[in-house]
Amino acid sequence: MKRIDMRAAWNRASADYQRRHAISTHSAHYGPWAPLENELRLLGDVRGRRILEVGCGGGQCSIAFARQGAIAAGIDLSDAQLDYARALAAAEGVAVEFVRGAADDLHHFADGAWDIVFSVYAFQYVADMPRCLGECARVLRPHGRLVFSLDHPFRACFFDAVEQDVTLYPARSYFDASPMAWTFADTGVWMHSYHHTFAAWIEMLTAAGFRLLRLLEPAPPTEMLDDIWPDDDPLSALRHIPPTVIFVAERSE
Ligand SMILES: C[S@@+](CC[C@H](N)C(=O)[O-])C[C@H]1O[C@@H](n2cnc3c(N)ncnc32)[C@H](O)[C@@H]1O
Repeated sequence: MKRIDMRAAWNRASADYQRRHAISTHSAHYGPWAPLENELRLLGDVRGRRILEVGCGGGQCSIAFARQGAIAAGIDLSDAQLDYARALAAAEGVAVEFVRGAADDLHHFADGAWDIVFSVYAFQYVADMPRCLGECARVLRPHGRLVFSLDHPFRACFFDAVEQDVTLYPARSYFDASPMAWTFADTGVWMHSYHHTFAAWIEMLTAAGFRLLRLLEPAPPTEMLDDIWPDDDPLSALRHIPPTVIFVAERSE
């Protein structure tokens, strides 16, 4: 298997990622296909809440939480993403602590210190997910919430890693948890992502001491689908696949 240095990969992909997505700091988001947190209201009123964002990237969600009165911090593997986040927080005049580190090693943060651990489209890059979830549980207070979004597990099935292209048939098994190698957008940067079945996610959450409260599969807006895969596009059947999943879990006592 190709060895990929994920920190180096995200350092190289960062500028293109930020330009391409132009993520707002008005509200936290759950990825390009999903409604914003301001609409979903999965976190409730965040004023005064302590929120740790894992895989914070350019920091937009943490900054949005800080703008809304939360005490926010973010951790990410990539220096380039963190440079972007720190510059953005300074430009927006909010205080957010941004830390360089890995999602499965949150030693910088104390036990039970956070009300919410939040993550958007980052957990799919984490090789040791049981360890990561254990760390999330450790830093949360009892009954604290873990809220995270991911590429929907079905999506990886419709990607052919040999051809490096999306397919209309399930080229990859839903049950394949081995790393999937792919090149990031137009940058030519190789990435690994890790995909788990829903059953595996629920098992891992339970083993880490979480109780699943909600699982959301938001349908993307029709206009967005029309733009990417209009009806006459040969790949238009991909409109039928859910793009995003959001988990809401609670740490037990
Ligand atoms: C798709 S980006 C999402 C960033 C941000 N959450 C957002 O919504 O824009 C994935 C992020 O996860 C970070 N990442 C990847 N693997 C990681 C790991 N093991 N630990 C911490 N961060 C990681 C990358 O550096 C990147 O910033």
